[in-house]
Amino acid sequence: MRRMNSEEILRQKQAVIQRFGEWTAHNIQLGPGLYTINEKIAGNEIKLRRLVQIVSDIVDKPFSELRILDLACLEGLYAIEFARHGAEVVGIEGREANIEKARFVKNVLCLDNLELVQDDVRNLSKEKYGSFDVILCLGILYHLDAPDVFSFLETISAVCRKVALIDTHISQRSERSYTYKGKQYWGSLFIEHDAKSTLKERQQALWGSLDNLTSFWPTRPSLYNLISHVGFTSAYECHIPKGQEEHDRILIVAAKGRRQELICCPSINTEPMQDLPEDSGRRIGKFVPRSVKDLIK
Ligand SMILES: C[S@@+](CC[C@H](N)C(=O)[O-])C[C@H]1O[C@@H](n2cnc3c(N)ncnc32)[C@H](O)[C@@H]1O
Repeated sequence: MRRMNSEEILRQKQAVIQRFGEWTAHNIQLGPGLYTINEKIAGNEIKLRRLVQIVSDIVDKPFSELRILDLACLEGLYAIEFARHGAEVVGIEGREANIEKARFVKNVLCLDNLELVQDDVRNLSKEKYGSFDVILCLGILYHLDAPDVFSFLETISAVCRKVALIDTHISQRSERSYTYKGKQYWGSLFIEHDAKSTLKERQQALWGSLDNLTSFWPTRPSLYNLISHVGFTSAYECHIPKGQEEHDRILIVAAKGRRQELICCPSINTEPMQDLPEDSGRRIGKFVPRSVKDLIK
């Protein structure tokens, strides 16, 4: 790839805007004084900073040795940042208007180590894309309906070698349940598009689901249970670095390790892993210990 000068960058950026509209979210520096949006902080920087920190803290390898997948990469900010740190990155995005903006930035920054594919994330498979040390599943799980949301997380686990970062909304309500592979998951429906909308109108909603009219948001316990059932060995919620989440949005760090067996207490090794009870969120706060006696009874 050849480096562009400032005039060329501006000319090509205008051509992208004419065809696909202005950038809607990802503000990326293209060169001195040149940005996809402008020099002001756009809002995604805090999320980006914590993601880079988490990967650096959790994955004990230099970025240049990592293969990273960014699912539903929108205008490419996260994929591009990790590629600029030296990782081999694949970004998958369903909408042409979004991925063409990412492709423009890839060309400006000459990122040979970044592959951008226009595809439906529901087509993810090991055969098609290989496996990855790190999976970025940011702002996409809550755009999928049941049963896709279950099979999608199952496939993420299948292509994940080390860790998946799942930034998602969760439901506060256990309104309906689905059974997937013999396990029950609770949550609620979220409306993505008007039932009368055309496919073209759905395409134009640049941040929404591709085609499904509704999506299924699992509750927090159901999501953690799903993460465990599909093969992740432990999962955590990130609080530091602090994000911008509301009460119904969380960032889960799901590790794909090797299941360990105990040596001192071997009888537990044949016991199944326990699921979180569906009301585990609501139970927090009901019991308030007042003394050591409360804790040991
Ligand atoms: C809320 S945005 C989140 C984008 C980005 N990951 C982020 O965190 O900033 C949702 C993105 O998912 C894309 N998307 C929705 N459904 C998809 C699907 N089934 N396959 C691929 N992309 C999809 C949308 O086009 C949009 O770019």
